[in-house]
Amino acid sequence: MLIQIKEKKKLIAGLNQALAWELRAYAMYAHYAAYVKGLEGLTLKSHFAEEAAESIGHAGKVRELLALLEAEAGTTRDDKPIVHTDDYRLMLEEALKTEETAARHYQKLLPLAKDHPVFMHTLMHIFMAELNAVEEAKALLGR
Ligand SMILES: [Fe+2]
Repeated sequence: MLIQIKEKKKLIAGLNQALAWELRAYAMYAHYAAYVKGLEGLTLKSHFAEEAAESIGHAGKVRELLALLEAEAGTTRDDKPIVHTDDYRLMLEEALKTEETAARHYQKLLPLAKDHPVFMHTLMHIFMAELNAVEEAKALLGR
């Protein structure tokens, strides 16, 4: 499939950065879903599990875009350490930082994809989901 996109190299690099960040987000949320406990655990366990699933979904979409570009998708997660804790507030702080970074990644990709409606649509959709997740994390932190 021939896709005319200016700055294709930049887009590929950015998509791979976003993919690695999604894989890290998956690992972080799956980890926190296992360790959250107490009263908070009743609601946060399923919240973290849903966010883990959403990260896998986003990773899948980004991988497909890379395949459309005939580029090689990365298979490893971003190496920024995941903070181990059983303090649910710290988990939510880490979740907020993770979602803010994800939103920044997609925001950066949008101008690179503007010539291609399919890329634009997919990336905008994920970007909106990240913004939503930022707000959700803030709300859970009582901000
Ligand atoms: Fe995501």
